[in-house]
Amino acid sequence: MKKTFSSETEQISEVILKAKEKACSETSAEPEPDLTQKIEWPLTCTVGPGLEGAIACETEVGYVNGSKGWLIYRGYDIFDLCAYSTFEEVSYLLVNGKLPKEKQLAAFKKKLAENRHLNETQRLLMSFPVENMNPMAALRLGTNLMRQKQTFRDEEAAELKAEAIAADEDSIAMETKPHGDAHAIYEFKRSQVKRPRSSDITLLNAESLESCYCLISGVATIAAAIARLRNRKLPLEPLTELSHAANLLYMITGKIPTPVEERIMDICLILHADHGMNASTFASMVVASTLSDVYFSIGAGIAALNGPLHGGANEQVMRILREIGDPKEVPSWYAAQREAKQKISGFGHRVYKTYDPRARILAPLAKILVASHPEMKKLYKVATALEKEVVATLGKNKNIFPNVDYYSGFIYNSLSIPTDFFTPMFAVARVSGWTARVFEYLQNNRIFRPRAMYVGKFDRKYTPLTKR
Ligand code: ACO
Repeated sequence: MKKTFSSETEQISEVILKAKEKACSETSAEPEPDLTQKIEWPLTCTVGPGLEGAIACETEVGYVNGSKGWLIYRGYDIFDLCAYSTFEEVSYLLVNGKLPKEKQLAAFKKKLAENRHLNETQRLLMSFPVENMNPMAALRLGTNLMRQKQTFRDEEAAELKAEAIAADEDSIAMETKPHGDAHAIYEFKRSQVKRPRSSDITLLNAESLESCYCLISGVATIAAAIARLRNRKLPLEPLTELSHAANLLYMITGKIPTPVEERIMDICLILHADHGMNASTFASMVVASTLSDVYFSIGAGIAALNGPLHGGANEQVMRILREIGDPKEVPSWYAAQREAKQKISGFGHRVYKTYDPRARILAPLAKILVASHPEMKKLYKVATALEKEVVATLGKNKNIFPNVDYYSGFIYNSLSIPTDFFTPMFAVARVSGWTARVFEYLQNNRIFRPRAMYVGKFDRKYTPLTKR
């Protein structure tokens, strides 16, 4: 029997299920045998530059079927997760592999709520000129500062060193503690944090799982603090009664979002939480594989996401739509771009050769939000006109369709998130996928170590500097 939806937020679920119906009618979803089977090492695969086509590991976290437009987290279809689930539940699912039971979800939400308070890290962050920094650089810095409080590795190492020095007191150098006590530098009350046994200090233990949860929750707090500091406003305390999505918006804007705004933000977080072995996920896994720690791993993910080939196309989309300005201008603008052989931001994808399922979901949700923003409503009309042109030409000839970045900017701008803050929003969501994949990989860890083909010279004779 067809379910009927009543409230505004339930109508959003209906919109998503309609998008699912359309996706299913246009493509038949089937796993690709070459990408969905157990690996027998050594494996033979055809590899292109940049490791394209290389298989690095097995995973149960998520799967992208690019030819069918299928995105799966832990066996669940992205359309269903967006229609029925929440970011908290999806994060639990990604990291733990199963949907939580009621009590587990309540405990997980409580943990996220506790970890959302990062006053000491924020104070430390405020000692840097955040307002003048690239927001992703500030986010990476903030993640590193979270690490100071949460990891025990440095403390362990420092203690071992201190013990070694103490055994030979004559050799204590004056600069052993040049800046004074750790408390004085960082303001962190380390004695309150329960310290694990030293043999447990690896990435793969309960303390590390706690760190994953701390990052899933805390990176959002740090991002929000950065957004405010860039506007020369003080960071806001999270509100216990709000969800992760609502808190994120509240801590950025200072306004408690409406249920519709909260629901759409939540769906954006779910949609961006994981996406296969993309560059930032791989970067975080490479760092983890050295048995570094999860904070450094997530810092690497943030660094990789900062590049314009990865995050940030949605910023460009909003700029070009504003440049076009009116739906009437679309045909001439598009013809000029084609003539100049320019790629159109927000279209095409390395993996999807069909309509990106995330764009199918975001397009109707953006339409809901822009309805109450006249400027955005006009730009949305420009976007749909451009999509029509591109799909009729490049879609037909080259399988180029809108990607996740085409409509997400409408949502963020309508939620009062500035355009130069889109990539940090992406990072906030992706922390769930990064931590889930890092945690999974470490269960069968092997340090990443590809080789490069040496094509340089041999037998060159060293010439002294004065004779070159
Ligand atoms: N507009 C116009 N033509 C395009 C576009 C586009 N957006 N994307 C690809 N093409 C064309 C290329 O010109 C090329 O044509 P040719 O065969 O005649 O030379 C053909 O399609 C294949 O292009 P590639 O760049 O090889 O495709 P690839 O799969 O490597 O590229 C990429 C994917 C990088 C995303 C590309 O589509 C692009 O640059 N898009 C615009 C930027 C963008 O939206 N990025 C966000 C991606 S989503 C994300 O990262 C979260």
